[in-house]
Amino acid sequence: MKDLLRIADLTEHDLAYLLDRAAHLKRHPSAAGDPLQGRTVLLYFAKPSTRTRVSTETAVVRLGGVPLTVGPAELQLGRAETIADTARVIGSYAAAVVIRTFDHDEVARFARSAEVPVINALTDAHHPLQALADLLTLREHFGDPRGRRLAYVGPATNVTHSLMEATALAGISLAVATPDAYRPDPEAEAIARKIATGGDLLITGDPHEAVRGADAVYTDVWLSMGDPPEQRAARTAALTPYRVTADLMAAAAPGAIFLHCLPAHRGEEVAADVIDGPASQVFPQAANRLPTAQAVLEALVAGILAGAQ
Ligand code: CP
Ligand code: NVA
Repeated sequence: MKDLLRIADLTEHDLAYLLDRAAHLKRHPSAAGDPLQGRTVLLYFAKPSTRTRVSTETAVVRLGGVPLTVGPAELQLGRAETIADTARVIGSYAAAVVIRTFDHDEVARFARSAEVPVINALTDAHHPLQALADLLTLREHFGDPRGRRLAYVGPATNVTHSLMEATALAGISLAVATPDAYRPDPEAEAIARKIATGGDLLITGDPHEAVRGADAVYTDVWLSMGDPPEQRAARTAALTPYRVTADLMAAAAPGAIFLHCLPAHRGEEVAADVIDGPASQVFPQAANRLPTAQAVLEALVAGILAGAQ
């Protein structure tokens, strides 16, 4: 396996390995040594980022390498050099390439032309690095999360699609509550059902049905970076009944935790007393972006993941 473009690229064993390794690197950040000594990793961000950029840059440094972070205006891509040519050239300098952009297919095309690992740092369709940190957080909180129940309440986003694939592969049940207009991409749903190793996937319009008995409740922003801003009013109207409030959390299992990929909008997708309350695990979850990014970079550069077909 050369690239991580979506969680379904991993086998069940690869996923378990990455989570074990991330947990170890979290306790022993230097345990990986310096496999990137004298090498660079190119990070290309066509959208803003706080967590992904800083955690991945830090992960590169912890592996002994140097991160080079650029935006569209700094590469000739912005002046119509092809993705294929860019990928071939950068692959001859850097040890790996990390890409955040809009169209998932562009990252896939880049990966096909690059000889080095390519990591999806968020596209409109998937956010695999986030899902790894989400699973590590569940694992820290519940021990082995296999058999646990997670509810996602809000519009289906890149984060939702990666969560669907990650929970399926890890044997966790997931209930997604979303209005009809914002249901998950059928392709991501089909893949999640195909790779499941246990657990159920329920897609419903009813937030209370989704959270009933859930061990964790997750939400994401109502308007993602790749969504047209003119959709804001329609999304707000449709999604207001899907806000995660203290009342909704009370319908989950006793001791249920709250998760959010961040950035969050208090008073929109989540009430302030939930995200800032005792059930919230959003900051440990964000902190887990670093060891999971370090584990992914280390494993891909070493070429040790089997990868799903
Ligand atoms: N959760 C996440 O990916 O955050 P950033 O957009 O800040 O990277
Ligand atoms: N769905 C959000 C996630 C941000 C980390 C977005 O794409 O903007």
